[in-house]
Amino acid sequence: MCYGEKHDNSLNDVSIIRPQLRSEDFRMRSREMESERLNAIRKGLLTLHTLELMAMTIYRFQIAGGSSELNRQLITAMCNEMTHYQDFQVKLYEYGFKPSIIRGAYWFVGFLFGFCSRLLGKKAILRTAIWVETKAVHHYAELLEKIEWDEETKKVIEKDQADEVGHIGRWEKLLESEKV
Ligand SMILES: [Fe+2]
Ligand SMILES: [Fe+2]
Repeated sequence: MCYGEKHDNSLNDVSIIRPQLRSEDFRMRSREMESERLNAIRKGLLTLHTLELMAMTIYRFQIAGGSSELNRQLITAMCNEMTHYQDFQVKLYEYGFKPSIIRGAYWFVGFLFGFCSRLLGKKAILRTAIWVETKAVHHYAELLEKIEWDEETKKVIEKDQADEVGHIGRWEKLLESEKV
């Protein structure tokens, strides 16, 4: 599957940074589910929620002053990761779960990756982002395959995974170009 820089009306259009969410889209989702399935969903959502916190923190600390194209795209990516973080926080509560109380550790790792790569320069920023996003795409694939999600949550996860693939494409393009 190739997500690339698709600009269309499909669900996985990566040019949509923050998809629209209506009041009727919010649901209580745990009803009539077996405890084993619920437990797997809980673990999956906690993993995604904490990883997205790390991702948005990395981009946040990679943003430097100035009006470069890299900064513009880092801000866009940060906003996209904030959307992902919001997606999984909402899903956690819809299922009756709560976010991990140790998620601050993921914030700190994100800060370290983001801040250190910014100190090392533009290429380090892009290479760090590509490395982290590649890990994320694999993680997403694993969780999509292993867990029996409800259809709506699955669609959100697929869109967010497509966004991560889109991020890799944008960073690779920037790394090749002279704009950075
Ligand atoms: Fe993300
Ligand atoms: Fe991402």
